[in-house]
Amino acid sequence: MRHLLAIEGMHRPQIASLLDLAESYVLLNRTGKTPRDRLRGRTLINLFFEDSTRTRTSFELAGKRLGADVINMTVSTSSVNKGETLLDTAATLNAMNCDLLVVRHASSGAPALLAQKVDAAVINAGDGTHEHPTQALLDALTIRRHRGSLENLIVAICGDVLHSRVARSNIHLLGAMGARVRLVGPPTLMPAAAERLGAEVFHDMASGLAGADVVMMLRLQLERMARGLVPSAREYFRFYGLDAQKLACARPDALVMHPGPMNRGVEIDSAVADHPTRSVIREQVEMGVAVRMAVLDVLSRVGANA
Ligand code: CP
Repeated sequence: MRHLLAIEGMHRPQIASLLDLAESYVLLNRTGKTPRDRLRGRTLINLFFEDSTRTRTSFELAGKRLGADVINMTVSTSSVNKGETLLDTAATLNAMNCDLLVVRHASSGAPALLAQKVDAAVINAGDGTHEHPTQALLDALTIRRHRGSLENLIVAICGDVLHSRVARSNIHLLGAMGARVRLVGPPTLMPAAAERLGAEVFHDMASGLAGADVVMMLRLQLERMARGLVPSAREYFRFYGLDAQKLACARPDALVMHPGPMNRGVEIDSAVADHPTRSVIREQVEMGVAVRMAVLDVLSRVGANA
């Protein structure tokens, strides 16, 4: 694995070994004994063309906990604002001998394009509506820690599937690991030919959640909607927002997940999001650091600058 651009195309042993390595980093993070010499002398640049709290911060923490020099490029104050292209920006960073380049971009395929132009290992931190591979890995690690395995679990991914790179990465990963994926949402927020992704499609929450082991809620991505695809936030919540009543359709011990950021009262009710035993949303954030450490660790061993 030279870059991490997508989950699509990854195989079960490759995913399982990344999760195993991430598991070891969970313990090291909790005890404060991370190997700070692992990435000593390596440079990691966070290049985020879209907003982020969790992904950018956890890549920064992951790099620092492994001893890398970490630079957060603030795109809003960079020469991108003077008209510099994505490729010229990448070539500039390449000339500084960066080892690991973490990229988030509004255009699907932007990290893959950069990977062809730079020597650094490129990690996709979310590209348009395409993929968000480290999010799917951290989701899988969270589920695996609670259920032992992903095999044969029913995972309902609910809401704005159409615009969700998180959903796409999860569909590929969960399928590769033997889980059964359901996509639940209104027809206007479901990709055409969603079934071709290997998932079952439902348009009402009660049947989509029936017997589910995991309920993964998605944010309503209003910023990616050219026109109104839902009548109103209030109506959306009534039919598709996860509250205690809808959650009761799933298994009694079903996990509640959300990649964040959450829109409380739109796709999820606070009582469910903050539920002390059912919600694992905070744990997902913790797993994000461990997963990103594992990814940086693996890529730094095989990159052109290794
Ligand atoms: N889940 C996720 O990608 O969150 P951020 O946008 O805060 O990074």
